[in-house]
Amino acid sequence: MNFNKVGASITIAAFMFFLVSFANAQNPWTAPAADAAVVNAVKSDDASIVAGKAIYTKSCKMCHGEKGDSKAGAPSNFTSKEFKAQSDGAIYFKINKGFGKMPAYKTKIAADNDRWNIVNYLRTL
Ligand code: HEC
Repeated sequence: MNFNKVGASITIAAFMFFLVSFANAQNPWTAPAADAAVVNAVKSDDASIVAGKAIYTKSCKMCHGEKGDSKAGAPSNFTSKEFKAQSDGAIYFKINKGFGKMPAYKTKIAADNDRWNIVNYLRTL
């Protein structure tokens, strides 16, 4: 590989890195279509909502507040029209992945069903 090719590869790599960082910096962040299309694996019944609420109270309430509105510190508002318009898959993706000050819970809350229970609970706020 001659110098020009190396230079060009570095330029392209730097440019792609810039594009990716830019996409990641968007707020509110959006779930990729494939993730947003994932179907909720847990039926939203009383047991699921009660289980989701227990986890929410322990792990999420300190930032998102009792009501899940934006008054508690975190800017997100689970009671808003915009939030409710998102698919279960999109919300699940955000809980798994985290963003900025929002922690990633994919491994912190190990069972997939528990994270779906939280999605079901957030729907009730
Ligand atoms: C340390 C504080 C903190 C904790 C704890 C936390 N979050 Fe968040 N969360 C945030 C912040 C800050 C954002 C907004 C991120 C952004 O857009 O910059 C957010 C965003 C979100 C969003 C996206 C909202 C939207 O508008 O699409 C969801 C869903 C969410 N949090 C769910 C949860 C759940 C469920 C838990 C508990 C398992 C949790 N969060 C725990 C701080 C927190």
